Amino acid sequence: MNVRYKDPSLPVDVRVKDLLRRMTVEEKMCQLLQQTIGKDANPENIGPDNPFNPLVGSVLSFTEGAKARNAYQRAAVEKTRLGIPILWGYDVIHGWRTGFPVSLAQAGSFNPDLTERLSRVAARECWADGGVNWSFSPMVEVCHDPRWGRVVEGYGEDPYTAGAFTAAVVRGYQGRKPSDLAKPGHVAACLKHFVGYSASEAGRDYSYTDLSERALREWYLPPFEAGVRAGARTLMSSFNDITGTPAVANRRILTDVLREEWGFDGFVVSDWGAVSQLKDQGYSDDPEEQTLAALLAGNDMDMCDGVFQCIPALVASGRLKKADLDRAVARVLTVKFELGLFENPYVPERPTAETCQLPSDRALALDCARESIALLKNDGLLPLDPKKVRRIALVGPLAESYHAHIGSWSAMVAADATGASNYLEQVRAFFPKAKIACEKGCGIVDDGDFDAIERAGAAAEAADLVLFACGEEGWQTGEYKSRVDIDLPGLQDALLTRLVATGKPLVALVTTGRPLAIGRLLDHCAAVLYLWQSGARAAEAAMEILVGLTNPSAKLPMTFPRAVGQIPVYYNAHSRSRSWAKDYTADLEDALPDGPLLPFGFGLSYTTFEYGPVKVSRRGGAFAASVAVTNTGKRAGKETVLWYLTDVWATYTQPVRRVVGFEKIELAPGETKTVRLRIDPLRDLSYPDTEGRRVLEAGEFRLSASLHSEARFRFEGL
Ligand code: NOJ
Repeated sequence: MNVRYKDPSLPVDVRVKDLLRRMTVEEKMCQLLQQTIGKDANPENIGPDNPFNPLVGSVLSFTEGAKARNAYQRAAVEKTRLGIPILWGYDVIHGWRTGFPVSLAQAGSFNPDLTERLSRVAARECWADGGVNWSFSPMVEVCHDPRWGRVVEGYGEDPYTAGAFTAAVVRGYQGRKPSDLAKPGHVAACLKHFVGYSASEAGRDYSYTDLSERALREWYLPPFEAGVRAGARTLMSSFNDITGTPAVANRRILTDVLREEWGFDGFVVSDWGAVSQLKDQGYSDDPEEQTLAALLAGNDMDMCDGVFQCIPALVASGRLKKADLDRAVARVLTVKFELGLFENPYVPERPTAETCQLPSDRALALDCARESIALLKNDGLLPLDPKKVRRIALVGPLAESYHAHIGSWSAMVAADATGASNYLEQVRAFFPKAKIACEKGCGIVDDGDFDAIERAGAAAEAADLVLFACGEEGWQTGEYKSRVDIDLPGLQDALLTRLVATGKPLVALVTTGRPLAIGRLLDHCAAVLYLWQSGARAAEAAMEILVGLTNPSAKLPMTFPRAVGQIPVYYNAHSRSRSWAKDYTADLEDALPDGPLLPFGFGLSYTTFEYGPVKVSRRGGAFAASVAVTNTGKRAGKETVLWYLTDVWATYTQPVRRVVGFEKIELAPGETKTVRLRIDPLRDLSYPDTEGRRVLEAGEFRLSASLHSEARFRFEGL
């Protein structure tokens, strides 16, 4: 074979070099463009109705299936001079056809193994059914503000947990070895949004973010670093600016940190329109300036704004050096070679039913939902004996909704509603003998229909058990879905008041993509089950928990505020003066009690766990810790041991505690297991100073296992 770049036996860098030297500037520029074919389905993605360009580097949001995708790919591979295949990107956030729990719900499972498996399924489905090779996820941003609509897409407030889930998604999409990426059914991961978008002021989407070096290093960067270390091949730069410099043009972040510190050698794509939005950010309205700023900062591909089309002019005028252009193009081509696209540009054209929602996929969706749903209150009513419940009132705006469970970013999942189930169907299935009345009671937005509330109240009065299907619809979280409040939207609070007045046992089933201020639910309901948006099989998993077929095991991946005024409130806040004035929230002058409504890591079970003492001993250069956990109840159950570390005395203020590890274990009644942790001083005991340098100080540390028991130990130096 004399066309060297087509020879799969040659190393990727040799192939890239060979291809690059054959390319014109125009062809190179095209490799850095990502476009839709036609209009984009996401209303937030405002853009032109693009004609197809076979030279384009990447197409996104294509939903016409494998056959149509292959036809376009054929035009690129067989009808262009060099035959460079197109990379097909899509927002596969929590599943393609099989609807899995949203990322925030997955985090609550504290089971990254499930996330790796569901990501494997999502990759296989999107590849086989849609011809996708590149998923725009995981979204790995740590978030402290439940008002932000996109909190649903991330893995909560803890950087360590977010990092563990990020790595799991990368393994699921790309495989465990670099060579897996080229195998059928594997896709490249995209860590997004790099970085700090989740710190938007007051949770308002697309707004300013002021991020100190320390905040970046402590909270926002670690999950990205975990993803890069796990081998993620791409990142998406974010819309926000990082203390003055827009992320898309931020060389310090995109090059100094990402490439020089972490050794990342994949490519970075801008978020939709972010390069031309440099104009909105008051940086420049000149496409050439914008292109230079983004490209030289280390942003290689341009998503949809087409600004990079000025590259040939920039090269001709000498403002853009050939080497700078080649570097970006080489990165994109490298990932295409690694994906095996030159050898296997097409995907098999098989019916959706053969490639998606296989029985094992649906079984996994149920397993994931079981572990994502958190029991937040149980005064002893649960688990229910279905034989003893005769009349059920299923009340609430989400009683018959499918989409509430599927959640945001679910274009392909929602297209196949047959895969999902709602509460009404599942209440009927789990309580076949009961008389079931279903009343919405109110809409999800205030429709002023107080008669509906009254009808629901009457149904509740005639029942022995009231299930309150409340929360938010699927479209109420996600991009550009920030809220000023985090209460139950619409008239649900009034409906709750009416239900409480009946005096009937009330179980709240909360479906939502964010922590809501659920104080009144906790006060007045006998039990509260927090489903998040746990996917196609969420309603079924919730019923299993209600009747005790599944013992709940999820814990909260975010702190729940009592009210908006407490935001931000998060478990790993820094020590403050007058720390005797209660744990991790500033006291407020009004009637709110101290502390959050529910802490990070909270979640009930039908069994009880007892923790033995934490033991810590020095092992060479590291420390070994252990704790014995016993199931002291009568049911088998799963428990997540969260390891919290506190640096007691330090030159720079420290978080009151921070997670340095976790492990989920399953225990039979009476069984004891010992959970172990290795503490590496450089990794776990050090912290960033105000310049972002890591500091490792000798002194006293405290290690706690899920806040149940703790040990103090001293670190005297390496
Ligand atoms: C904008 C969103 O911010 C990003 O997360 C998404 O991947 C792109 N649009 C593409 O849909």
